[in-house]
Amino acid sequence: MEQKPKITVVGSINMDLVTITSQVPKTGETLFGDQFYMNPGGKGANQAVAAARLGGRVKLIGCVGNDSFGKDILQHLQEQGVDVSNVEPVTHMTATASIIVANQDNSIIVVPGANNNVTAAFVESKRDIIADSDILILQLEIPLEGVQKAIEIAKENGVKVILNPAPIQNLPSQVIQDVDYITPNEHEYLLLKEESNEETFAEKLIITKGSKGVSIVEEGKEIIIPAYKMNVVDTTGAGDSFNGGLAIALSKGLDLKDACKYGNAVAALSTTKLGAQTGMPTSEEVESFIVNQGRLD
Ligand code: ATP
Ligand code: RIB
Repeated sequence: MEQKPKITVVGSINMDLVTITSQVPKTGETLFGDQFYMNPGGKGANQAVAAARLGGRVKLIGCVGNDSFGKDILQHLQEQGVDVSNVEPVTHMTATASIIVANQDNSIIVVPGANNNVTAAFVESKRDIIADSDILILQLEIPLEGVQKAIEIAKENGVKVILNPAPIQNLPSQVIQDVDYITPNEHEYLLLKEESNEETFAEKLIITKGSKGVSIVEEGKEIIIPAYKMNVVDTTGAGDSFNGGLAIALSKGLDLKDACKYGNAVAALSTTKLGAQTGMPTSEEVESFIVNQGRLD
């Protein structure tokens, strides 16, 4: 029987507070919105759910507050098949993300709260979990020292690392050198390029380009994998779906191009429902989507 890939995610766990509107207020302006809802989110949790729905054995390492958001999120993650035994409740409040969805795009403010407890010491206490993984996925919604410690442990144990550098911040060049794949969106890539020597990341760079798809570099040449044409409802979490799909495909042994094609299909499906995690597909849904579309790129 095929072994399920062991994916570990060290990252953020947020409650998303989402307002749907046709117009975004300017500073000092008040507008009426169309809808409001709350949904579990956070880049770490989203990527964990994406990989779990696709059949991974997923462990999430992170922190939530000892509050009602934290309790609801933990129950939800368990229902999604994510192992949360390494998510610890702390005295800080569960992180929130205030999200405005307008004109098929979104803007987000995150208040990190409990995510700030994912320090280097906390990650060190989870060393054995990271060491026992096929792939480690990281983002930048927890302290950078926690990210660096996770990379260090993964490297020492031959575990492949995907870094989704979101939200973008200045990164020590060692971080870029030590990860195996780095997955900025276009905006993050522009800032990353300003700070880093391009040679450091050329072949490990995977740029997600929204409705334009995904670009990678192969033998020094850029290759574009075009996005699928979808009836887009909400792109929140599309990047997270891509990263979850990429991790699953790489851990099953697909080469980078085919793994990105798979992630591209996972992300496309995720845009068809409201909410970061709601539209994330199962592996069966991805496979039948790819067959129905009649292409893998
Ligand atoms: P988010 O922060 O909202 O999760 P992101 O900005 O990190 O997303 P994007 O580059 O916008 O990431 O999108 C990630 C991937 O999702 C794209 O590379 C593509 O595969 C898919 N995708 C995003 N938008 C669309 C779209 N409008 N149509 C089809 N696929 C899309
Ligand atoms: O990538 C989408 C996620 O970014 C949302 O779920 C929100 O929590 C923010 O962290």
